[in-house]
Amino acid sequence: MMKTENSINPAGPKGYPFIGSILDLTSRPLKWLQSLTDEYGDVAKFRLLKREVYLVNHPDLVREILGKRVDNYTKKSVAFKIVKVVLGESTFTSTGEVWKRKRKLAQPSFHKNRIANLSVMMTDTIEEMLDEWEIICDKKETINVADAMMRLTLKVVVRALFSTALSKEEVQTVADVFTPLLEETNARISFPIRIFHRLRRKRNAAYFENIKKLDDIIYRIIHERRNASSPPTDLLQMLMDARDEETGEPLNDEELRDEVMTVFIAGHETTANAMAWLWMVLSQQPDVRNRVEEEVEQVLGKRIPVASDFPDLTYLLKVFKETLRIYPPVPILPRRVEQDDVLGDYFIKGGSEVFFSPYLLHRHPDFWEDPESFNPDRFDKDLIRRQHTFAYLPFGGGPRLCMGNNFAMMEAVFIIAMATQRFRLNLVSDAPNEPLVTLTTRPKGGVVVRLERR
Ligand code: HEM
Repeated sequence: MMKTENSINPAGPKGYPFIGSILDLTSRPLKWLQSLTDEYGDVAKFRLLKREVYLVNHPDLVREILGKRVDNYTKKSVAFKIVKVVLGESTFTSTGEVWKRKRKLAQPSFHKNRIANLSVMMTDTIEEMLDEWEIICDKKETINVADAMMRLTLKVVVRALFSTALSKEEVQTVADVFTPLLEETNARISFPIRIFHRLRRKRNAAYFENIKKLDDIIYRIIHERRNASSPPTDLLQMLMDARDEETGEPLNDEELRDEVMTVFIAGHETTANAMAWLWMVLSQQPDVRNRVEEEVEQVLGKRIPVASDFPDLTYLLKVFKETLRIYPPVPILPRRVEQDDVLGDYFIKGGSEVFFSPYLLHRHPDFWEDPESFNPDRFDKDLIRRQHTFAYLPFGGGPRLCMGNNFAMMEAVFIIAMATQRFRLNLVSDAPNEPLVTLTTRPKGGVVVRLERR
């Protein structure tokens, strides 16, 4: 480590000529990042092609990045520029004054009270899936619950946005388009050389074709809504009714499209992946599963949950939060460094990027006791109050905290509750599930279970 006048120049691996450490990062991201913090400490420096990147792995420093110095650590990083091709200039991707305006307009639609209005739609959709599971259970067939959660959360998000405005074919189009779109976005982030992706003409054309398919659906509905006499009270309508406090202006069609696309994409795969891990853990940990079953029995019995049950399902929420700790769906977050900075004792160069990792912070041995063990009781009110806020970041933190966290938590708790009322999900294989890391982490090969009726 080199010391400059008042700060330390972080050390790190040299990597290969030209490409730097890109192969290490793409081939075994979490293990490699962990090895960097083991070797170099709170801040390590490496290179990805021409980019200099600092891995920051201390909650005090991450608090600075996401909090006080948020204007210097922006979402103008390479990864966000690529995500912008799909999401446009939305709450998720924009920065500065544009972000402030959008967040102010969109945020009220995601308030707890508004989300409560969506709870019946959520439970209806979960019920439909469970009815299908009855048939699968009778036939003693297995299901890949990772895929089932993906289909379920997509359906929930589509209905939350559009009520029933999407035809069956359109729902199918969304489902078909989604995985290749994410995979291609991920490939572009892993190897961010534009010309390379343009030259893969077929893939490039398919990518933009898929975006257009989603655009066509979204714009059709927006246009229909503009002329509707008694529109439903779904998320799209809430976004359409939102007005800028100062100017009184609503979001225009393109801005609405960007927000809708963001909810599509940010709002379902993350929850689905967390739920896939959660079912795996419950099958492996009978004690935890027993306590889940007890709480469901006590609070709900056989009754379908309503929004006011959510605060009483405390153990279920703790299980979900602990799942998000061990298997954070978003494992790595990037930021661009606008100006030279000294972070803690470390010199951080303007024009570079910082990465921080919920996955690593959630396992930081100075902040979590026995970090590899699954223990929902860590989230007891008194214990969690003493926890460093920035050592637990499944939803990010600071002003750019996830806007859909209440939505995700209610949805997850209701899925756990309603599936538990009817079934036990038992893993078919004991083989360990490795994380497959793309933009999000999911269990490699899915989670195959057999349903047992309760
Ligand atoms: C378990 C589920 C979810 C996880 C783990 C998750 C995770 C995250 C994370 C880590 C961020 C911060 C990104 C950053 O700072 O770079 C974020 C932002 C965001 N999320 Fe989520 N998310 C989840 C569900 C949802 C849902 C259900 C929605 C919408 C319905 C949503 C909408 C958003 C939006 C709009 C932002 C951008 C907020 C801003 O920058 O102002 N998310 N999410």
